[in-house]
Amino acid sequence: MPSIKAAIIGFGTVGKGVYKIVDEKREQIKKQTGYTVDIVAVLVRDITKTRNIFPGTVLTDNIDDILNNPEITVIFEAIVDEEPAYTYLSQAIEKGIHIITANKKMFAKHGPALLKHAEFRNIQVGYEATTAGGVPIIRTIGNLLSGDRVKRIQGILNGTSNFILTDMRTEGVPFKTALEDAQKLGFAEADPTDDVSGTDAFCKLMILSSLAFGSQPEWEKVSVVGIDHIQTDDVVEASNAGYRYRHVADIRQNDDGSLTAKVGPVLLEANHPLYSIDGVDNAVIVETEYLGALTLIGPGAGMYPTGSAMVADLLHIIRQQVTELIPN
Ligand SMILES: NC(=O)c1ccc[n+]([C@@H]2O[C@H](COP(=O)([O-])OP(=O)(O)OC[C@H]3O[C@@H](n4cnc5c(N)ncnc54)[C@H](OP(=O)(O)O)[C@@H]3O)[C@@H](O)[C@H]2O)c1
Repeated sequence: MPSIKAAIIGFGTVGKGVYKIVDEKREQIKKQTGYTVDIVAVLVRDITKTRNIFPGTVLTDNIDDILNNPEITVIFEAIVDEEPAYTYLSQAIEKGIHIITANKKMFAKHGPALLKHAEFRNIQVGYEATTAGGVPIIRTIGNLLSGDRVKRIQGILNGTSNFILTDMRTEGVPFKTALEDAQKLGFAEADPTDDVSGTDAFCKLMILSSLAFGSQPEWEKVSVVGIDHIQTDDVVEASNAGYRYRHVADIRQNDDGSLTAKVGPVLLEANHPLYSIDGVDNAVIVETEYLGALTLIGPGAGMYPTGSAMVADLLHIIRQQVTELIPN
């Protein structure tokens, strides 16, 4: 059975999820694609920490151990921040390695350049996990675009913010307590700044914008407001009046082709599709010229939803690129 050799960059929540799923779904992947997938290397910052990996997997803190291994034809990238992720993935493309990333901060800014570079080198890029975790929004929009035109996208793209707003409404707790609840339950990062400031949702919206509209609005012109200033009394009062606060990322294409985007809390009425989305779920409404409106709802983060979105990208790449995945 031919074997595809892959590496994982970053072995935190997401990297570990990919590793586990590739192991647990080994037989299924074999059956579906005719290939086995072996994770032969894992890159981390600190190689002294104990990692739960098989003896055959190389653990390294040196990217060259991956980039210079001619057997490796796919990289899963799950580290944080723009750099060194962008540099590593650019180098991987240059070496002819297909890339799959979960790194939204990096991809919002550098995704268009990576995609262009990859197209030039005939390399595949998977980025389903960057946006709305396990909700297959990238593939859905990609499919829609073949015969339709996206007019508007609205979404709850940050599960932590949605959890906090839900907790404030249902438990009557202040923002700070709701944030601590989210952290205790493992939904919020130790540093939740990007989540509660709207930056995380903004990055995801820019990734969707590039895909759906082929461009992004000027970043400085997009109003980005977080949820950290919202008072529990406001949330409860709104709820009693039949409204709900939701943190919504919204982008639309105007008649002249320009884009208008904003990210922030809004009050929604009960008939709005995002009204009932509680807890850590994400939801995205895509409005198109021919289809009308389509809403996708699901888990926006976590080890298994995000890891499985990355493995789904791999299966897609295998189907697209079968011949170049096994070196001669
Ligand atoms: N968590 C989620 O549910 C989720 C969902 C969607 C997308 N994402 C995105 O996926 C990425 C990973 O998230 P995560 O939650 O898995 O993060 P995490 O738990 O903090 O893990 C990050 C991993 O990256 C490694 N790392 C960081 N900087 C590195 C560097 N310069 N060189 C080599 N390794 C480095 C760390 O190494 P050490 O272990 O040695 O520190 C760690 O293993 C992020 O970009 C995040 O935005 C996360």
